[in-house]
Amino acid sequence: MKRLLDQVADHPSFWDFARRIVEANHRTQKAAIKRELDGVDGPVLDAPCGTGIFSPLIPAVHYTGIDVSDVYVSHARKKHPDRRFAVMDALATSFADDAFAAVLVVGFLHHLDEPDVARSLKEIRRVLRPGGRFVLVEDCPTRGRWNVPGRILQGLDAGGRIRPTEWYRRALSVDFEVLHDYPLRAGLWDYSVFVLG
Ligand SMILES: C[S@@+](CC[C@H](N)C(=O)[O-])C[C@H]1O[C@@H](n2cnc3c(N)ncnc32)[C@H](O)[C@@H]1O
Repeated sequence: MKRLLDQVADHPSFWDFARRIVEANHRTQKAAIKRELDGVDGPVLDAPCGTGIFSPLIPAVHYTGIDVSDVYVSHARKKHPDRRFAVMDALATSFADDAFAAVLVVGFLHHLDEPDVARSLKEIRRVLRPGGRFVLVEDCPTRGRWNVPGRILQGLDAGGRIRPTEWYRRALSVDFEVLHDYPLRAGLWDYSVFVLG
């Protein structure tokens, strides 16, 4: 089953389709991202952007998406030709200090071990301008008692390091002020949303 999921993930169109089903068309994530980035008037970094599914939520003129996967980035470029995408390591980007008014991170940190989470947060802090906004939507352990399919799918997740909200509050508070956080359910999948300054 895990091999099958990995193979699906290698094909951007299949991957997007499977995620749309599991995550109820990303309706709740999109609403949260829109709400939390509301009022940001400047460049926004989406890191990593995957296939660019959340890029339409950000005005094209302000949007930059990066991902380490060239397959995902070329898919994103085809689907959203008006937006800027680049193949880049989110832990060591080539952007200048204070380059962005906001950074959006969705479903990434559970792919990293603890030292790389710390590196990634330091890199976000470096590229985020003072007073900027950091919105993190991160996978968290399945909350619903009866959400058995969600639990099984999380067990197969490629990241494999899904951590509780409390863990993130501590890790994030080293480099950021946690302005607020809340649980978010997207279909079978559970997230926590953190808004940081
Ligand atoms: C679960 S996907 C989330 C992508 C996107 N935020 C979304 O929600 O669709 C995780 C992504 O992290 C990317 N990734 C993993 N390690 C990375 C790194 N060091 N730098 C940039 N992207 C990375 C993978 O290629 C994959 O697209």
